[in-house]
Amino acid sequence: MIWKLNAVKTLSGTVHLPGDKSISHRYAMLAAIAEGESVIRHFAASQDCHSTLRCLSALGATIVEAGDDVAIQGRGLRGLRAPEKPLDAENSGTTIRLLSGILAGHDFTCSITGDASLLSRPMGRIIQPLRLMGANIEPRERDLPPLVIRGGSLKGIRYSLPVASAQVKSCVLLAGLYAGETTAVEETVPTRDHTEIALREFGAAARVSGGWIEVDPAPRLRARRLTVPGDLSGAAFFLAAAAMVPDSDLTIPGVSLNGRRRELLNYLERAGMDLCVENETTEAGEARGDLRARYSAAFLKRRMPDIKGPEAAALIDEIPILAVLGSQTAGGLEISGAEELRVKESDRISALAVNLRAMGAEVMEKSDGLIVSGGRKLRGADIETRKDHRIAMAFAIAGLAAEDETRIHDAECVNISFPGFLDTLKNIAK
Ligand code: S3P
Repeated sequence: MIWKLNAVKTLSGTVHLPGDKSISHRYAMLAAIAEGESVIRHFAASQDCHSTLRCLSALGATIVEAGDDVAIQGRGLRGLRAPEKPLDAENSGTTIRLLSGILAGHDFTCSITGDASLLSRPMGRIIQPLRLMGANIEPRERDLPPLVIRGGSLKGIRYSLPVASAQVKSCVLLAGLYAGETTAVEETVPTRDHTEIALREFGAAARVSGGWIEVDPAPRLRARRLTVPGDLSGAAFFLAAAAMVPDSDLTIPGVSLNGRRRELLNYLERAGMDLCVENETTEAGEARGDLRARYSAAFLKRRMPDIKGPEAAALIDEIPILAVLGSQTAGGLEISGAEELRVKESDRISALAVNLRAMGAEVMEKSDGLIVSGGRKLRGADIETRKDHRIAMAFAIAGLAAEDETRIHDAECVNISFPGFLDTLKNIAK
């Protein structure tokens, strides 16, 4: 599907977001290994989270969806059963990496595969710690999926993460539920902590001290009723749009304000954006609140602060849209230390450089980031999304500020995280 976008006069109104993708994956997986029925409200509409649900039902969990509520009948910690055919994580790195941690604790053999993009993403980062814990896990070749996993009793490890990745941290912590003793993971660069929070909500003992996160073997997890907040990474596209399109004024209610994810808001505030947070509350350990974002001509006259080091890890999913926004500020933006972007759903550094240049921006590609020169009006172009949802959405927003028509190819890939994105955009475009 090709989307055709043109510049809009202004954006105003309320943006309703789908449930957070990261939190939804974790709630679904923990519900499937808890005892009793969990109900997850405002579960992510994302295809990725539905890949997780399909894998969990193939593993024996009973799942009933009603609108965006999902009821999951848990099978207990060791109660999943061998699937009849290979599990399919489709496009979802979070599904394959987190679920592998749970499968490592189950005494059966199963394999887990995915689509062409997932089959090219590195799994050595989870294979290594799971083998140290005693799981038998084999990749197809080198460190690529499909993975064949034979789990069973595991031993606790103390593991320092070699790569800043919440998926790897979460995989090891979930496997830690099945270990004979405490498992500890050290992260030198903080990453999203939804797993630590959700583990506690479902009754596991997870502690954080310094850079170490410890989880004790769990005798059992208890079912919960939980509500997922709106996806802040989805909000990022609308925040950037409000910053770029004159006179915009957007309200985005019920957004996740998790401490590790809201670095996005701190960053945009530091960059000088007109942004405020209202009605903040915390439920089940996850902060949430309403955002209001307004256009400010002064913001576009500045340079955006460099993104480097730990900030690159904290903003990893938002860098595509921040790079687009940077191209519209007078001083541009430099991104470093973001080499992880090369192994996401696509090589996002290359996809950003190619598509920003196609729209007339000046961009230098570095091995670990980009230098985006600002101050050039974008012009419409054919955008090769590489079937990467965040690239598609970032350039749809670029199209709102460009001269002439922008065509987003393979636009259906936005369903990976944000079905309804285009309708949401049309609703606020005036
Ligand atoms: C995620 C962690 C991040 C992020 C991904 C979701 C998660 O990946 O990019 O979209 O839910 O844990 P890495 O852990 O590979 O950095």
